[in-house]
Amino acid sequence: MARLKLGVLCSGGGTNLQAILDACASGRLDAEVRVVACNRAGAGALARAERAGVAARVVSHRDHATREDFDARLVEVLREAGVDTVVLAGFMRIVTPVLLDAFPGRVINIHPALLPAFPGLDGQRQALDHGVAIAGCTVHLVDAGTDTGPIIAQAAVAVRDDDHRDALAARILEQEHALLVDVLAWLAEGRVEVHAGPSGRARVRVAGRDRWRFAVGPQ
Ligand code: GRF
Repeated sequence: MARLKLGVLCSGGGTNLQAILDACASGRLDAEVRVVACNRAGAGALARAERAGVAARVVSHRDHATREDFDARLVEVLREAGVDTVVLAGFMRIVTPVLLDAFPGRVINIHPALLPAFPGLDGQRQALDHGVAIAGCTVHLVDAGTDTGPIIAQAAVAVRDDDHRDALAARILEQEHALLVDVLAWLAEGRVEVHAGPSGRARVRVAGRDRWRFAVGPQ
């Protein structure tokens, strides 16, 4: 068990970052957010970091000719802050092996859909458009694909007949916050194990913990 030294990458409002900051402050999570890096100046996540007294950096992808150069700069920022685990929390860029190889097996992402369904942008709307009965979110290890890495945990959210995108996204977001903190706590406790499944694909086990949450019924 070791206190996680987190680097959190954000692009937007930062409510997932806030969930991590609150869990660290309350002692729920044995971790410290060492730096927050945003690719968009003015992102709400930056203000959240500053309010929490956490180092906040803007690293704009527009300042770098290639995705690899952008990632190399992110790695510099993360290394300077002494980070050992990287969280993509509402981060809207595809990361490359430059970042993944710098933190092997230690980059996680929160996605607002039940992967492998609905990868990419606006998974919440994709789910509604397909008329699913159950939506949700996924925390997974990041690989070089788009939302394709080994799944660590998922939360299911019932879809209501009168749901519109923002109402469903709000209920999923509540589960994202809880699921992300759960997974980070399991990482800090050394519970997360990756092994090859029967098909050869990497599979995740979490020792002593259920990898699912169900948010069903009226909330
Ligand atoms: C969340 O649904 C997240 O999964 C998606 O962006 C939304 C906002 O995240 N990538 P946050 O409030 O910026 O953490």
